[in-house]
Amino acid sequence: KIPIIIDCDPGIDDVIAIMLAHSTQKFDILGITPVAGNVPAVHTRRNARDISEFLGINCPVAYGADGPLLTRDRYRPATGTHGESGIGQVVLPPAKNPVYPKPAWDFIYEKAVEQKGELIIVATGPLTNIAITLLKYPDLPQLLKGLYIMGGSTTTGNVNELAEFNIWVDVHAADIVYKSGIVVTQAGCNVCLKTGLPLDFLAELSEMPSRISEVLKGLVAGYSDVKPDPDGNLSSIIYDAVPFLALIDPDMVTTRDCHIDMECSSSKGGFGATLPDFSYRKEKLPVNCHDIQDLDMQKYRQLCVEMVKYYSEH
Ligand code: BDR
Ligand code: CA
Repeated sequence: KIPIIIDCDPGIDDVIAIMLAHSTQKFDILGITPVAGNVPAVHTRRNARDISEFLGINCPVAYGADGPLLTRDRYRPATGTHGESGIGQVVLPPAKNPVYPKPAWDFIYEKAVEQKGELIIVATGPLTNIAITLLKYPDLPQLLKGLYIMGGSTTTGNVNELAEFNIWVDVHAADIVYKSGIVVTQAGCNVCLKTGLPLDFLAELSEMPSRISEVLKGLVAGYSDVKPDPDGNLSSIIYDAVPFLALIDPDMVTTRDCHIDMECSSSKGGFGATLPDFSYRKEKLPVNCHDIQDLDMQKYRQLCVEMVKYYSEH
């Protein structure tokens, strides 16, 4: 199994992504480190704990940052997309396990040391926790096997013309991460926006009897990031599933290497953009990003069906 920490801001698509990831049994989920993002930290923390126990993951949950490093004045949660609580109208049974007694950054570093170069972080929220870990423990890049994120875009964004929400919320954290020496595997808006799951397919999944049926139905109903797919079917953009898919089956995705710079200037319209350079000159601009460009939708849908089967048996 692949040892991972899930750093996230649940968040409806975060929760669906965690459901999918856990169901594959390909991951050893060592912990979840919630951060403020889609909704304020009080909600992402509760949701992280509740979903871990509801799914039977029961991993440590170590609380992360309650807002971006520098741009707290600009930060606006995405309650319009995810509801006030972050999971629409869904109410999960309240978690019973205690919170991990140390903050996210100490937990992440301890696990990185313990895993001796095998740990992968999957980050599906703003990168605040990862940046704080890097500032406190500068040797983190040498200890990680990988960092897979949902964030950014090498084409168009979803907050402004160029910027994607997770990066936009804490662009300074993202800047620290992308300059750290870690080569980030990035699932940006460029791939996520074309890989939504049709609403009728999601309805079929939640009609199959399983213990996630009601929760899945409620999550889909509460999520407003719905757009037509290339065939014109209305589809939910489950952004946060994509970095997990790249780990579940690397053959499902195609990637292209590039150098990314963050647009941190508050005076420009594209604030928060991940500016890609695919024609980098290696000696000047190191590759710091494997940009996911395409996804095998047939395999993705198959994994979703297998997910429901898994939860009908477990
Ligand atoms: C990203 O931001 C959040 O709304 C989602 O959970 C996803 O991680 C999409 O831009
Ligand atoms: Ca998210």
